[in-house]
Amino acid sequence: MNVVGVRRAGPEDMDAIVDLYIAVVEEGKWLGGQAPVDRTSRRERFLDEIEATDPAASLVATVGEELVGHVAVDLTPYNVAGLGMMVDAEWRGRGVGGALVRGAIDAARQIGAHKVALQVWPHNDVARRLYLRHGFVEEGLLRRHYPRRNGELWDAVIMGLVLDEGSAGSNF
Ligand SMILES: CC(C)(COP(=O)(O)OP(=O)(O)OC[C@H]1O[C@@H](n2cnc3c(N)ncnc32)[C@H](O)[C@@H]1OP(=O)(O)O)[C@@H](O)C(=O)NCCC(=O)NCCS
Repeated sequence: MNVVGVRRAGPEDMDAIVDLYIAVVEEGKWLGGQAPVDRTSRRERFLDEIEATDPAASLVATVGEELVGHVAVDLTPYNVAGLGMMVDAEWRGRGVGGALVRGAIDAARQIGAHKVALQVWPHNDVARRLYLRHGFVEEGLLRRHYPRRNGELWDAVIMGLVLDEGSAGSNF
């Protein structure tokens, strides 16, 4: 069994992260991004995530020296963390995604989020199960919401993990 490490991403990881992103986008059915990817601007965006002064986290999963996954955690002005992740196709089904989700939830707590929220395509059963296993619940469905370059309109499932169950909720 290979040991999966999770650590903060650094500038030295950018090329591997972009390579991974382009490969997963080119699979065509998992991420919001669509091919063709503008490599230079996408690299800038990943770099911005690690240089951001706003609270944010960019984590990579490694096995030995190899970068096998990435998760980005950003924070809205109202303190909900958003999560976006990907694992190298060769490494899926071996716990890398689980390690990244746990790292992302820890990071979300550290940056002061009261909740983690994400959207996932309805056909992405592996991701939906992964999030459910880590305490997320399905909160809704956006119907025919996202236009794709092929002209289709895709649904998206909204999932959330509340980190602060202690504060008062709405009470009307
Ligand atoms: C979704 C994604 C991140 C999950 O990553 P992953 O590394 O495959 O996740 P895990 O290995 O932790 O879990 C996946 C499955 O492997 C199983 N698994 C985990 N560790 C395992 C191990 N050591 N041996 C065998 N199976 C294992 C899990 O139980 C899980 O099974 P299930 O899907 O039947 O419930 C990955 O599939 C991916 O990158 N997909 C493309 C991009 C994407 O969809 N991103 C999310 C967009 S919302």
